[in-house]
Amino acid sequence: MKGLNDEWIMEGHGDFNFTVWRDYFQENKMNVQQVNWSDAYKLSKHELQTIYKSIQQFQVGESSEGKFLIKAAKDYLVDQHDKSYLQALTLFIQEEQRHARDLGLFMKKQHIPIIKKHWVDQVFRRLRRFANLEQSITVLLTAEIIATVYYDALKQVTSSGDLHDLCGQILRDEAKHVEFQSHTIKRLSKHRNKCLKKSISFLRMFLLAGTLLTVWVYHYKVLKAGGYSFLKYFRSAFNEFYRSEGLINQ
Ligand SMILES: [Fe+2]
Ligand SMILES: [Fe+2]
Repeated sequence: MKGLNDEWIMEGHGDFNFTVWRDYFQENKMNVQQVNWSDAYKLSKHELQTIYKSIQQFQVGESSEGKFLIKAAKDYLVDQHDKSYLQALTLFIQEEQRHARDLGLFMKKQHIPIIKKHWVDQVFRRLRRFANLEQSITVLLTAEIIATVYYDALKQVTSSGDLHDLCGQILRDEAKHVEFQSHTIKRLSKHRNKCLKKSISFLRMFLLAGTLLTVWVYHYKVLKAGGYSFLKYFRSAFNEFYRSEGLINQ
């Protein structure tokens, strides 16, 4: 059976064409697993202490309006006749906003206040504000890779059915986000020679390693309680990184 990746590769007729991804996001919107919000489970004091600050930070990180990303994409697409990337990107941003909304609903139910900003998130946003499309997507890809590990940990930390279902849906979405961003980077960097591609791949690796360390400092409680030692956390994130690099360099 032909997969999304194969279809995407077969599309390669020179344009910055993302109709397959636009269609994927449209279809995914119709197939979101509904969270059973009627679950009456109340987090224990210990569970609450473990996730409280961490979920606040991740929720705010998911809630971007994507204004600068859309601007960077529009600037890039000036010379491209196909605008399907912009449609795919808009649907992708809506998906991240759904994550923020659903995490917010869960937090409200458990009386965890929603915060407006956090400095780590602000740094990420500033980095993207002054970046071109490829740099913006690179920063985003780093966050997507870490999300595939973090939400797997968060899923295991509590006995809440809501949070378990919600993390399951987010994890399915984030795995595809890694592929979407990887494919975008592949398209944006296709004119480069092998040596330059390799150097930029190293830069992505350093960015990931640095961000992983920062995220560990703030979120180790959730990661550890979710079964991730520091080594397992790094290894899991790097497995996802290598999957992404495989897609970028295929
Ligand atoms: Fe997300
Ligand atoms: Fe994502």
